[in-house]
Amino acid sequence: MLRLAVFVSGRGSNLVSIYNSVPDNKAKIVAVVSNKPDCPAIEFAKQKNIDVFFISEKEKTGFVNYNQLADRLAELKVNLIVLAGFLKKIPDNFIDHFENKIINIHPALLPSFGGAGMYGMNVHNAVWKSGSKVSGATIHFVDKIYDHGRIIYQKKVDISDAGSPEEIAAKVLKIEHEILPYVVLKFSENKIKIIDDKILIE
Ligand code: GAR
Repeated sequence: MLRLAVFVSGRGSNLVSIYNSVPDNKAKIVAVVSNKPDCPAIEFAKQKNIDVFFISEKEKTGFVNYNQLADRLAELKVNLIVLAGFLKKIPDNFIDHFENKIINIHPALLPSFGGAGMYGMNVHNAVWKSGSKVSGATIHFVDKIYDHGRIIYQKKVDISDAGSPEEIAAKVLKIEHEILPYVVLKFSENKIKIIDDKILIE
């Protein structure tokens, strides 16, 4: 069974979509991690009695650092970390520690519209400005470079009728809520295979 830690920074709609769409006997969210203690995602985790950890690279009361977090996640037997709207860069040694066990959802079709500063509405504003008629969402493994790790799954959406960046965001979010539970389910069934530099979903 998959034991998930979901990392969040804000609204938490992707956290909720995993919670609601992936059956408990396939994947269980055993930890929610955030750099922001007061956000709707943390509120949701507490309501559902999920263990919550606050993360900071600096010494801060009530927060753990990445080494302490790695220990807590090991105790909870976490075998997949999902970055679902987590907007902080993760330190290299934590990425090494969880090699091929951290995935991220990005609200555009990578490798376009990714990289430092490309998160949330910044992405949709850039897509809007580009005049692109399609956007979408990407799920990829996390490596040491922003939005660069191997792509696991993508789905596109027609945005030719979107009248604003906010409308693009809403269309993309709908796609995100479909594909993230789908990919988590595939991980839980061991149907995601890494073959050389490609990812195959069976
Ligand atoms: C989502 O759109 C996610 O793709 C994006 O933040 C939003 C979080 O929403 N992530 C990034 O931009 C990462 N580069 P949520 O808190 O409602 O899940």
